[in-house]
Amino acid sequence: MSAPNELAGEAPVMQLIWDLPTRVFHWLLAACVLGAWLTAESERSRMVHFALGYSAGLLVAWRLVWGFVGSRYARFSDFVRSPFAAVGYLRGYLPQARRAGQTQTHYLGHNPAGGWAVLALLAVVALAVATGYVSYQDDSADLWSGVHELVGNGIIVLVGLHVAAVVVTGVLHRENLVRAMVNGCKRARSGEGIPGAFTLLGLVLAAAVLAFTWQVYTGVFPALTT
Ligand code: HEM
Ligand code: HEM
Repeated sequence: MSAPNELAGEAPVMQLIWDLPTRVFHWLLAACVLGAWLTAESERSRMVHFALGYSAGLLVAWRLVWGFVGSRYARFSDFVRSPFAAVGYLRGYLPQARRAGQTQTHYLGHNPAGGWAVLALLAVVALAVATGYVSYQDDSADLWSGVHELVGNGIIVLVGLHVAAVVVTGVLHRENLVRAMVNGCKRARSGEGIPGAFTLLGLVLAAAVLAFTWQVYTGVFPALTT
């Protein structure tokens, strides 16, 4: 588990925090989920909906593996903490805590509350994919269609909260978190960054997911789309 990092008194140095596969995962997941949501209603875009939805599922499956074998800040062991830690972290933002002069701990990876948000986002995407599959396999399953629609729309609510949290935390800690998810870098003490970006793996992941999206779209996997 990484130590919380206090930047006080340190000359800021840009360090690599997010490896490339994690960044590729994030932006492809965002594109697939938003794309699946936007193509959900029309009959004409049905295959695009399926292709993007299953690709989101593939990305989540990959992230579960990377959470165990990935680089330091991508690992679940770095950011999954007890619910009490998450609540304690959030309480640090309350005005009383600030007035009492408590300094909010700064985390280089996901903070304890953010860690739970990551798990929630992964779970809800997985649920959308599973219920989408079931509702498509069984046309008579009106119940599953309803559940799928509810989960699919619920994701958008969670994503709205996610983006708001990213913006607010970024402002409070004077840190550009979105840029960090793009170039992988944050200000940190020397030695706290990760040694390598896993660039080749990131490129392979991007190519594999795009190829998979295209194959589902063109109907190469009949078990998924017929
Ligand atoms: C459907 C849309 C989105 C989904 C499903 C999603 C999901 C996620 C997930 C699962 C993570 C954890 C990353 C990891 O450790 O692998 C994450 C982190 C992050 N996301 Fe998103 N995201 C979405 C959209 C966005 C958008 C539009 C932005 C930009 C404003 C954004 C900014 C970030 C940032 C900055 C982090 C890192 C947070 C941190 O520093 O702890 N996300 N997101
Ligand atoms: C991130 C993934 C996904 C999201 C966010 C999502 C979202 C949605 C939403 C919001 C609707 C309701 C559209 C309406 O208002 O009528 C819908 C419909 C549908 N989705 Fe998905 N979906 C996803 C993945 C999938 C997958 C993997 C399949 C698998 C085949 C699928 C199959 C369907 C089908 C068949 C419908 C229309 C009829 C029904 O409800 O049974 N979806 N989706």
